[in-house]
Amino acid sequence: MKIVSGMRPTGRLHLGHYFGVIKNWLKLEDQHQCYFFIADWHALTNKYKDTKNLQEDIKQMIIDWLACGINPEKSTLFIQSGVKEHAELSLLFSMITPKSWLELNPSYKDLKFNLYYQYLRDFLLGKQIKIIQTPPPKPFKEALKEADGKSKSKIFEEYLREIFHRAFYSQKGIDFKGLKETLLKFGLNKKIVEEAVKNLEEGDVGKDIDTLGFLAYPVLQAADILIYKAEAVPVGEDQLPHIELTREIARRFNSLYEQIFPEPEAMLTEEAKLPGLDGRKMSKSYNNAIYLSDEEQIVNEKVLSMKTDPQRIRKTDKGNPDVCPVFDYHKIFTDDSTRADIDKKCRNAEIGCVDCKKILAKNLNRFLEPIREKRKEIEKDLDKYYQIFIEGTKKAHLEASQNMKKVRKAMNLFNIE
Ligand code: TRP
Ligand code: SF4
Repeated sequence: MKIVSGMRPTGRLHLGHYFGVIKNWLKLEDQHQCYFFIADWHALTNKYKDTKNLQEDIKQMIIDWLACGINPEKSTLFIQSGVKEHAELSLLFSMITPKSWLELNPSYKDLKFNLYYQYLRDFLLGKQIKIIQTPPPKPFKEALKEADGKSKSKIFEEYLREIFHRAFYSQKGIDFKGLKETLLKFGLNKKIVEEAVKNLEEGDVGKDIDTLGFLAYPVLQAADILIYKAEAVPVGEDQLPHIELTREIARRFNSLYEQIFPEPEAMLTEEAKLPGLDGRKMSKSYNNAIYLSDEEQIVNEKVLSMKTDPQRIRKTDKGNPDVCPVFDYHKIFTDDSTRADIDKKCRNAEIGCVDCKKILAKNLNRFLEPIREKRKEIEKDLDKYYQIFIEGTKKAHLEASQNMKKVRKAMNLFNIE
């Protein structure tokens, strides 16, 4: 099968990337014809203001891919912006894509939701808003009673999120008026609420992504995929709407002009559960990641700083590995019998978290060491390895340009040659 997948160059890769994407690619390239590319144009969609690290980020991605064993003899590895045909096809697709397909795209809406919500939360909490005034609304009051260790502001956030969710996903677009009324009903300070909602409605929030490029992100992605007539696309769950849109664009093109594009399938990558140091999803922006390039000492320090079972405060408390992020790591990096032993000893308070983490750090370093070694080897001779991507880009270009000729012909466009 022909497979296409891309990654935005966001800097060095972390373990979340390895177990969420790279490991899967390594398997796929043995069985399929794979095209893997660095989506540098896509990186611009929300990071267009500051591009000074872009070339360095691309290099780091090249080093990481190759150090992990992605094999240029098996797969075509290239850089998106080196194959201009992606942009040409994207432009042509933009002519046949109804705007509503993009505006209703769940990833677009969700991103916007998060931006707005974060703004609202930071504004209200930042103004040290007196969270509850008298008398607090009933459901809120009850929730506070059940609080059980959670802080008031946590509960406030949960409520705020729910209220905002309702206002944001209302039928008629964002319901600012309803939002304001609900917040006031919750007994929040009138002046502050009015200012917050007004800023949301008229201010700069979301401006950074309020660009044509961001809205058209999935159209470019459809072009990335279809220009090679890919049949399958390995992606995480968050990308499913984009693949669905790709299929719709393919269908529309085929029915308008000529049957050129296959409708590619999404190949869902099962997400290995590998949380970040603080137990949340591993992400550069949360500052909770372990990088493939982290040196041994850094790995040791990071592992020691990891969150554990929150109920286990003293060494004499019995622990529960089922709710401990450290144990999630043991599931991947530690052999079965040692892990079973840790499981038992943790539950009986026979092993301390520090010792448990030391075992993990050792195993994790054993996993990372060959990657680090390979990274150094590549870094020493970067030009040579960079060349692999240049060759890959030429190869991809050759194929893309042949398919573009067919597209131009089908649409009765001007064709040089
Ligand atoms: N949108 C993808 C992501 O953020 C990256 C991407 C761009 C991609 N073009 C693609 C993935 C084509 C698969 C196929 O992860
Ligand atoms: Fe987690 Fe290990 Fe501590 Fe148990 S002993 S709580 S598994 S870190």
